[in-house]
Amino acid sequence: MTITAFQFFGSLALVSVAYKFAHTVLPWLYVNIIGPKFLGPKLDISRVGGWAVITGATDGIGKAYANALAKRGFNLVLISRSLTKLEDVAKKIGEDHKVDIKIVDVDFTGGVDIYDKIKARIEGLDIGVLVNNVGVSYPYPEYFLECYQQDPKFLQNIISVNIHSVTHMCALILPVMVNRKKGVIINVSSTAAVIPNPLLSVYSGSKAFVDKFSVDLQTEYRSKGITVQCVQPGFVATNMSKIKRTDLMTPSPDTYVAAALNFLGYTTKTAAYLPHIFLQLTLNLMNDVICEPFTTNFVFNQLLNMRKRALRKQQKQ
Ligand SMILES: NC(=O)c1ccc[n+]([C@@H]2O[C@H](COP(=O)([O-])OP(=O)(O)OC[C@H]3O[C@@H](n4cnc5c(N)ncnc54)[C@H](OP(=O)(O)O)[C@@H]3O)[C@@H](O)[C@H]2O)c1
Repeated sequence: MTITAFQFFGSLALVSVAYKFAHTVLPWLYVNIIGPKFLGPKLDISRVGGWAVITGATDGIGKAYANALAKRGFNLVLISRSLTKLEDVAKKIGEDHKVDIKIVDVDFTGGVDIYDKIKARIEGLDIGVLVNNVGVSYPYPEYFLECYQQDPKFLQNIISVNIHSVTHMCALILPVMVNRKKGVIINVSSTAAVIPNPLLSVYSGSKAFVDKFSVDLQTEYRSKGITVQCVQPGFVATNMSKIKRTDLMTPSPDTYVAAALNFLGYTTKTAAYLPHIFLQLTLNLMNDVICEPFTTNFVFNQLLNMRKRALRKQQKQ
């Protein structure tokens, strides 16, 4: 039997589509939908046990992690800037979940000596979970040079809070986890790290650092029993996003954190909440299929409009 060139290349195309499906689409579906949604977390975080340390724990996503982990029986170390907010949050979580709570008031824009204070407070604790959540962004989208001219310390602050806190906290707490031969580090990045984000360039760059650091740290410490998860939220209704109302694309911090904990063990980097996963997928497909300059310009124009609105509002005040 002879086959025509059309049949030959047709079969080849079918085989490559089937191969791509088996090697890319099926694992993607398992890691992003089937596993976390229908089978539950691959790693049961409660089994890690001990204390959980959370930075930026008095509001938004950090407070939601604190509640979720206390609900699973973890004692907590809450770290944030404002002492009264820390006391209030600790009191409420303590009453709700009957766990031990320590608080540490430090400003992550401060010098390295703040880590001595944290180190002293966590000394001797059996720490199983670290959530590197604290983060700051721009008050509104702005050109890089304008940010610098308006406040030269702004760039240093954003890097201290978004990058230095992550590396320093890991350096303080990883030795305890390595000794215990188990531990979970959750680093909160952002979708901004993986999509075009002009006018927020230092923020998105700092979050891209968190992404890359997390992946390579995971490779280094997987064999020591450590799981690193980097979550990349889209918009979540918090003070930082200035969004009060939740909807499908903007979950509450509790909804987001519940989704993220279900992804533990499946993948090192994840947007973790299904609508945010599809948002990333759509933007990446737009990049690949339509072309990158189109997507970049689309986002740039949206952010330019946000900048204009913010400046107009500022002028009125
Ligand atoms: N919300 C979103 O749409 C979104 C999207 C993507 C990624 N993220 C990331 O998610 C993380 C949490 O964001 P969020 O929206 O939950 O923020 P948030 O509601 O503004 O809460 C920020 C928390 O960090 C603390 N904090 C801020 N600056 C600090 C400093 N200099 N030193 C010590 N503590 C400080 C705050 O404490 P005080 O109240 O005491 O200041 C508060 O507990 C960040 O890393 C952010 O980049 C958020």
